[in-house]
Amino acid sequence: MAPAITPIQNGGGDVNSPAKLTKQVVVCSIIAAFGGLMFGYDIGISGGVTSMDDFLLKFFPVVYKKKHRVKEDNYCKYNNQTLQLFTSSLYLAAVVCSFFASFCCKKLGRKRTMQMAAAFFFVGVILNTAALNLPMLIIGRLCLGAGVGFGNQAVPLFISEIAPAKYRGGLNICFQMLITVGILIANLVNYITTNIHPYGWRISLGGAALPAIFLGLGSLLIVETPASLIERDLTEEGLRVLKKIRGVEDVEKEYSEILQATETAKKIKHPFRNLMKRSSFPQLFCGTILQVFQQFTGINVIMFYAPVLFQTMGISGDASLLSAVVTGSINCLSTLVAIFGVDRVGRRFLLIEAAIQMLISQGLTGAILATQLHSTNAIPKLYAIIVVLLICVFVSGFAWSWGPLGWLIPSEIFPLETRTSGFFFAVSMNMICTFIIAQAFLTMLCHMRSGIFFFFVAWIVFMGIFAVFLLPETKGIPIDEMNERVWKKHWFWRRFFDDKVESQV
Ligand code: BGC
Repeated sequence: MAPAITPIQNGGGDVNSPAKLTKQVVVCSIIAAFGGLMFGYDIGISGGVTSMDDFLLKFFPVVYKKKHRVKEDNYCKYNNQTLQLFTSSLYLAAVVCSFFASFCCKKLGRKRTMQMAAAFFFVGVILNTAALNLPMLIIGRLCLGAGVGFGNQAVPLFISEIAPAKYRGGLNICFQMLITVGILIANLVNYITTNIHPYGWRISLGGAALPAIFLGLGSLLIVETPASLIERDLTEEGLRVLKKIRGVEDVEKEYSEILQATETAKKIKHPFRNLMKRSSFPQLFCGTILQVFQQFTGINVIMFYAPVLFQTMGISGDASLLSAVVTGSINCLSTLVAIFGVDRVGRRFLLIEAAIQMLISQGLTGAILATQLHSTNAIPKLYAIIVVLLICVFVSGFAWSWGPLGWLIPSEIFPLETRTSGFFFAVSMNMICTFIIAQAFLTMLCHMRSGIFFFFVAWIVFMGIFAVFLLPETKGIPIDEMNERVWKKHWFWRRFFDDKVESQV
């Protein structure tokens, strides 16, 4: 029998609470999710831009020459550390900045942190669009990275805190949805600008200004989360906002729960040190490993380098950009499955099903490339089409599981006292792993050739096992009830909680 529900309601209230899904919550979530659009646009734009001749000729003449050398090995055409640095530098800056962003989130609030994200992003766009040389280009990327670090820290937390528990999953995935829309728009823009010579790439990079403007202006309209207001002693304002976003006057229980969680949080002078406590380990481990796994599905190989990868297979320039549009559309549409499914079928079901799907498609892609793509041939057309289809199957699995849930779960499993610091670890782990993939993939492709796909298959096996045995289900649980109702009851993780430790270990 389900346990009687204690209506502890911070972070969205109980699934049975009278809180409605109000217009404010929906509008605020969508505006905040524009942070995802900024992030997604950046992910999608770099691959296309780095495959454009005008861009290569201006900033990476060595790669340009190599690309057009007839005898160059298929797998090694784009193997250039500086070219990879163009893509990866953004994530390096994002790692560093998400550390500062976690403090800003706590001290200045989630809303202000989002505004700072938009400002950094805007400066980055200007530098990139006007870039005259490589340093200017890279500095621009670093500013964009700062924007991503601030945005990705604040947005998922913001949404998880304002959403009612029973809609939290779906609303939070709006963030991922807009990431995928951003990637798709970027793919489309690249498809058009690749034929605008010689400055098409400037239009591509400049397009990132739009989501930054949306987020910057939109964030003037949104409310701060009650938890963040109360955490900063703005209790009356917190209560007022809580009533407004819940659409009911009766918010006493949720309000007192936030107060209580805030009191506990305030006693914690060193949230980072607190995270090192034994009882924080389960959330810290699961939150960060999910992000590692998310990246080691190999998704960003497709997102960053799809056009390059398709060209490696001998598909022509325009067609390879078009294929990137196709995978981008699948990515976007499949995210809808997560939005509607996550609060119904639960997190674990989606993760496990998708692991199987991704495993099969990555494995087959590797096998086809191993047998059909050698150093200097072009892959036969039929096989090229099958590879594009397999990549679509892979992307769709990722898009309704490890993509959105990699962000959702870490934002909902930490108690208030370690929420921003714990989430910082998750965000920065994502950025570190994204950096590694962006920086290393083209070199790995050159050395490991098709074997790279089996490398990702091995990771997918691990993550499937992790989801089956170690990841608890968090569907419908109010975020401040997680410790009591999820972690302390889990067959493995409960041994980390002091009251049970002694008898369990
Ligand atoms: C990941 C990105 C990835 C994107 C693809 C996000 O959740 O964090 O690294 O490129 O999904 O849609």
